[in-house]
Parts: sequence; structure tokens; C-alpha cells
Amino acid sequence: MAQFDHKKYEPFKSISLPSRRWPDRVLDRAPSWCSVDLRDGNQALVEPMTTRQKSILWDQLVKLGFKEIEVGFPSASIPDFDFVRQLIEENRIPDDVTIQVLTQARPELIGRTFEALKGVKRAILHVYNSTSTVQREQVFDLDRDGIIKIAVEGAVLVRDYALQYPETEWVFEYSPESFTGTELDFALDICNAVIDVWNPTNDRKCIINLPATVEMSTPNVYADQIEWFCDRVNRRESVVISLHTHNDRGCAVAAGELGMMAGADRVEGTLMGNGERTGNMDIITMAMNLYSQGVNPNLDLSRMDEVIETVKICTQLPVHPRHPYAGELVFTAFSGSHQDAIKKCLSKQEEAKPWQVAYLPIDPADIGRTYEEVIRINSQSGKGGIAYVLERDYGLILPRWLQIDFSSAVQAFAEEKESEVESDTIFDLFQQTYFPESYRWALGDYQVKRESGVDLLNAMLLVKGKAQHPLTGSGNGVVAAFVDAMQKFLGQKIVLVEYSEHALSRSADAEAICYIQLNIDGERRCGVGRSNDIVQASLNGILGAINSAAEQNAIDAA
Ligand code: KIV
Ligand code: ZN
Repeated sequence: MAQFDHKKYEPFKSISLPSRRWPDRVLDRAPSWCSVDLRDGNQALVEPMTTRQKSILWDQLVKLGFKEIEVGFPSASIPDFDFVRQLIEENRIPDDVTIQVLTQARPELIGRTFEALKGVKRAILHVYNSTSTVQREQVFDLDRDGIIKIAVEGAVLVRDYALQYPETEWVFEYSPESFTGTELDFALDICNAVIDVWNPTNDRKCIINLPATVEMSTPNVYADQIEWFCDRVNRRESVVISLHTHNDRGCAVAAGELGMMAGADRVEGTLMGNGERTGNMDIITMAMNLYSQGVNPNLDLSRMDEVIETVKICTQLPVHPRHPYAGELVFTAFSGSHQDAIKKCLSKQEEAKPWQVAYLPIDPADIGRTYEEVIRINSQSGKGGIAYVLERDYGLILPRWLQIDFSSAVQAFAEEKESEVESDTIFDLFQQTYFPESYRWALGDYQVKRESGVDLLNAMLLVKGKAQHPLTGSGNGVVAAFVDAMQKFLGQKIVLVEYSEHALSRSADAEAICYIQLNIDGERRCGVGRSNDIVQASLNGILGAINSAAEQNAIDAA
């Protein structure tokens, strides 16, 4: 226990912001997104991406609609340098897309970064240095002024180098790296010092990126930091406030969202949240969160499986099956009560109406998923899910009482197999339960006559397919007459309790299917009959119920 000692850690400090406004805001627009997959994401990989992988990911990011993409750290990595050159020389940057590259605020690195960008139409040059207390005191051994000097000298160099490349439209970005571990007044001072060097205007804005390099607090504290900063930064109208959150506490998306509510304009992140340690903010989740609230995320995520494949190929990392929105299981319900609710809601969901389906925050079809994966059957599943699968895949519309009857067969099977039950297996079980290969009685020829408002039935009952037994019965309708005939034949009380039928739309011969429930001497039995003739289907269903009772010795077999 001595090693696992929470007293080793200090709680984060809250921000005194009594008149904070962000909690009352609602996100009603998407931020400007910047993908940092090819830089921050790449830096965090066990095996950094090859040029081919970078190229595939670049194409995917452009296809998704990203307008700003950080493509590397060219002064720190030769492959990154070469990739930037390749994009520029091969003319692969669409006119409406701006590439961004990162550099530390160090003279030799800044010069090399400009070299990498030579000839580009427009670029964001992103310069950073670490500002947190721990970095100042323990890594750089510099006081506040020393750290500000690094940032300002970097900003001056960036500004002056840019003048040497007038063919490029430059946008400057500054990150006080480890912002969340930096005293707010100092973060403000250093950013204002950089802003003063760059002298941004409304037409030529600069970007101030406020990274949660390490996520250190609950997201509300990050939002307080952002609102505090936005309210005080110089030339706010000429500065784009950007967020860059990491996921150390698992709240990077929440921090990004609250940070936007607190006044930020732009968000940096990665697809599926790949990035250092527990990752960068996952843009897919934040974008889909907006989408599910009726806000256009300005990213086309309709081909989610393609995005997942690309991420897997390029990062060599799996995507968790329960990853928000994207995981292969996130639109699947195994639990019976969830399946029932989903089935009911889906059948009532009208196209023009807002989406309102229990347990499904969005329509899976929107991201290229099919309804097939919504309901899957295992031993936790109930009647609703089983009925849904039979209707969806085989056009069988089971009435509720038959769903109850059949679900026990599926549950018993799933429990025995200890696994998921596929749709074709459910159908096989249905066939075995209601159309067994061997049965006691079948219906031979029959005639019906109507006399004085009563139907009179004469039929031949086949016993075990061979012996024949004549039947007679009467009643109001053929079904009642047949029940009467069987009652006389068996000498037991038979009452028709439930009846339901429908045409089998998927059957080429326009077959009908009939579901029957009988009460045979106090015991309920279900049967199913199918035929091209609806009367025959009903009589088969009645015999099916009686055969099932005979099979389990619930009636005396004649
Ligand atoms: O996490 C971080 O602080 C970064 C900066 C370089 C922006 O990636
Ligand atoms: Zn980062």
C-alpha cells in the first residue's frame, strides 16, 4: 500500500471567476478544425508513419473537409521535411486548405522550417516554447523573463523570415506549451508579448493556441482558464483563440467543448484521438457530438468505416469497438429491454421528424452503418430483438405472444452455446420449433360447406403421414369448424386464443403465414402454418400447435 499513496499528489487549483459566462452558453457552430494527426499524432506512434502512410492520411483529411492540417515538424525530422516538400512540389494542397508546421522558438529551427515551406501559397507557422512552472524551474532553469525572451525572439525571427518569402501568405501561431500548468497571468503576459511583435489585424489575424499539453484538471477549470484569457488578451478581435487538449484524465473532448463555450474559435485534435500518452482530443467525437445536436460539424463523416480503416492503416493502432460513434459495437444492442425500445422507436421514426430513438443518439445510417448491426442476439437478448431480426431478414412479423413463446428457444440455445446467435441460426431455430421434420398429424383433403350460417368441415387427418382418420366439425368459419373437429377427435377441450396472419412479402409464391395460439385443456400452445392459401395456412397452424402439445405429451396421442 505504501507505494499507492495519494498524498503524493496535490489537487488542482480552481480559478476565481465568479461571473463566468461559459456555463450558460450552448454550442451552436463548429470550430475551425485543425488536424494535428500528421504531427502530434505521428510523434506519438511506436512506428512513425511512412511517407506512403502520411500521404494516405493526408488524402483522407482533405476528403473529410479539414481546411487546416498540421503536417509535421520539418526542422526536427527529415521525413517530415521531405513530406512537406512533397506536398508543395507535387501540388497536392488544394487552394482552400492551409498546411501548418510546428517549430520550437529556436533560431536554427525556425530558419529550416521556412526552407521546408518554400513556394507554398499559404501556411501557418506554429512556434512554441514551454511556459509552465515545472518546465521553467526544473527543465530550463529560467525565470519568467527568460522564458518570455525565448518566445519574443522566436516571434521576431518568424516575422522577419516571413518577409523573405513574400510569395507565401503567412499566418503565425504561438503556443505557450503546457499552458494548463502555467500561471494565468504569466500565460497572458507571454502571449501578449508575442502578439505585440506580430501586430495582427482583423484582416491578418494570428493564432494563439492554449494547449492542455497535460490534462491536469476537470474540464470546467480549463474553460475558466480560456474565458479568463479571452477576456484579457490584447487585440482579441485580431486573435484566433485555439484549443489543443490532451486526454490524460479522459476528458479532452469535454475540455474542448467547454473551452469553445468559453470563447475559443478553433480546435486542434486528431482522428480517434491518437496522440501522446492517452492521446489528443478526438475530433471525430467532438464533431459527431455537434452533429447529434443538429449543428453542422463542417466535416463529412458519412463514411466512418473508411476513416477507421485509414486510421488503422496509418497509425497501426486498433479502434476500440466501443469508441464513441465509430466503434463497431456502438450501435448494437444485446440487452432485451434496449432491443424492445429500439424496435418500437425505429418503427415509429418518420423521415421528416427529428431523430428520436431510445439508446441511439444518432441514426447509424448517417455514418454508413446499416440497421443490421443495431440488434444482435445473445443470451441477454429478449423477444423484441429476436422478432426484429426475423422481420428484418425474413419478413416474419411475429405477434407478441409468439415472440414470448419463441424467445425461450433462442435463449436456451444462446446459453448453451455461450455465444452470439446469428440471424440465420435464429431462423433455423424458428423452423425447427414450428415446422419440425417429424410430426404426428397432417391435414389431408378437406371440404367445407356452409349451411344455415354454419360451416361444416369434412377432412382427412393423416396420422404419421400414413394412416388416415376422417374428421367432421362445425362452427362459425373454417377455423372454428376445424378446432371443433380436432376437439372431437382428441376428446380434449381446445379453444382458439390468438390468431394472426400476414402475407409473406419475400415469398415468390405469395404465401401466407398464420400464427395460432390454442388453449388445450388449460395449456397454451403455439403453432405456425404457411401455405399459398390462407385457410390452409390457418389449419396448418392449428395442427402445428396440437402437434407441439402431442410432442411434449400434453395431449393423449391417438
Ligand atoms: O501538446 C502540446 O502542447 C503541443 C504543442 C506543441 C502545441 O503539441
Ligand atoms: Zn499536443
